[in-house]
Amino acid sequence: MKKILVTGGCGYIGGHTIVDLLENGYSVISVDDLSRGSLRMLQGIEKITGKTVKNYRVNLCDLEDTEAIFIENPDIAGIIHFAAYKSVPESVQQPLKYFRNNINSLVNLLQCAQTYGVNNFVFSSSCSVYGNPKELPVKETAPLGEPESPYARTKQMGEAICRDFAAQNRNFNVSLLRYFNPVGAHPTAIIGELQEKPENLVPMITQTAVGKRMEMMVFGNDYDTRDGSCVRDYVHVMDIANAHTKALECIMEGRNKYKCDIYNLGTGNGVTVLELIEAFEKASGEKLNYKIGPRRPGDVVEVYADNEKARAVLGWQIKYGLHEMMDTAWRWELTIKKEAEQIHLN
Ligand code: WQD
Repeated sequence: MKKILVTGGCGYIGGHTIVDLLENGYSVISVDDLSRGSLRMLQGIEKITGKTVKNYRVNLCDLEDTEAIFIENPDIAGIIHFAAYKSVPESVQQPLKYFRNNINSLVNLLQCAQTYGVNNFVFSSSCSVYGNPKELPVKETAPLGEPESPYARTKQMGEAICRDFAAQNRNFNVSLLRYFNPVGAHPTAIIGELQEKPENLVPMITQTAVGKRMEMMVFGNDYDTRDGSCVRDYVHVMDIANAHTKALECIMEGRNKYKCDIYNLGTGNGVTVLELIEAFEKASGEKLNYKIGPRRPGDVVEVYADNEKARAVLGWQIKYGLHEMMDTAWRWELTIKKEAEQIHLN
């Protein structure tokens, strides 16, 4: 049973990817300093899979502590690297915190991969590397635009570091996975995204619908789109998770065409904010309390993926549609509410 090291394993996409890896017969260890993630994720994974995943509470910016994990686990067959700060507004406020954390952690990890001979690497990237794309749907060959934030710049820099490292290390292969907008939760609703103060659309919708927030704002309906609101490519987190397993297997089986391959992870369907809200109301049966407000600075007007390469090369298949994305996101929000009520009662 091949052992995979997942960094950021206690986070949203990392946790769901661990479920997919376990269900595909891999053993997994997690590295997460719990600055953003929570051990609750691993408890949920155990409930879903019946398997216990060990977490090393290590800050990857500390090379010595990171090395110790590789010394203790000489049988690591591959690495999937999620651990990074990912708040766009926070990165604008504190760029150096983002450069230090997101870049130093990656460099340390690659250093250990080289020292301990781990040659299969998947890097968590983002469609935000495209900035405001000129052509739609976006292909992997599209030019990288000026990033919207220091966060997006750390993703562009991270991709370049992986590319240069692969070029210098004969046996090393890496997949760069550019996510569009991951949303939703595991179908059991036992795990999902924990966003105390949500910034992204879907947690904002579910927290408003469940009564945590009085109302939410649609940031602009005067864009040049079919209903005036921004267009995004929403993709279920379990589809994103499975793409990681497939990308790792492609490298481990030597099916990758290049030492550094790039894949767009989106459904290929552009959905507006107002269409997403309508899909949520249909899936949840809840009427959402929202109003139209001013545009949010830095917002890309329209972006959605050309996902042909991931489907053709990785054999990636989208299993979840918009209804399941909204249904699982809503049921996860209800899980959180029930747990909070139980804590309150105890
Ligand atoms: C989606 C749409 C908002 C909240 C972000 C990161 C990106 C990537 C994916 C990591 C936009 C609108 C939102 C609200 C709204 N993350 N919106 N009211 O900005 O596409 O991308 O997540 O890789 O790097 O930037 O996602 O969910 O914040 O916004 O109207 O209360 O929803 O204006 O059009 P975004 P988002």
